[in-house]
Amino acid sequence: MLKIREIQAIETYDLRLKVLKTSEKYIYKYQGDFDTETKHFGAFLNKDCIGIVSVMKNSLAAYSQKQIQLRGMAVTPKMQGKNVGKQLIQFIEKQYRQKGVSLIWCNAREYAVPFYKKLGFESIGDKFYIEHVCFHYKMIKNI
Ligand SMILES: CC(C)(COP(=O)(O)OP(=O)(O)OC[C@H]1O[C@@H](n2cnc3c(N)ncnc32)[C@H](O)[C@@H]1OP(=O)(O)O)[C@@H](O)C(=O)NCCC(=O)NCCS
Repeated sequence: MLKIREIQAIETYDLRLKVLKTSEKYIYKYQGDFDTETKHFGAFLNKDCIGIVSVMKNSLAAYSQKQIQLRGMAVTPKMQGKNVGKQLIQFIEKQYRQKGVSLIWCNAREYAVPFYKKLGFESIGDKFYIEHVCFHYKMIKNI
């Protein structure tokens, strides 16, 4: 059975490198990883971490709600398409709704946009390029 729990920043590095690295210049240590407000979560099958997401307290200026940014969402290739990502997002929504957060957002890689849409996110604005990664869309969801 899948178990989701808080993990340390350094525990995300392995999957960030395995799943999210796009080039030698990909920065897998994010600014803010060790901020006191930042939290990291892992989805575990037995003892293996098969999915990760980080939550940072960054706000979009256009929205006044209490909000969080999702970063570094990744599921190990073998386990993709088996609802691990969905369960991670649902876990975050439940946790942060309880803390009064009503908006979650992320910079979604273009190819991951259908995943976020399926989970009720909508894209805002034009697509933009993040250096050494790919095109992204800003996506938001009211929770
Ligand atoms: C994107 C990612 C996190 C999604 O996690 P996942 O565990 O594979 O996705 P899930 O199985 O939970 O999918 C949830 C739903 O979205 C759908 N979905 C997932 N990826 C999709 C895609 N690319 N296109 C269309 N639908 C998609 C699934 O079919 C599922 O629908 P269902 O609830 O009707 O069955 C994962 O595939 C991944 O790590 N990809 C590579 C890295 C990446 O792109 N990270 C995101 C960076 S912004």
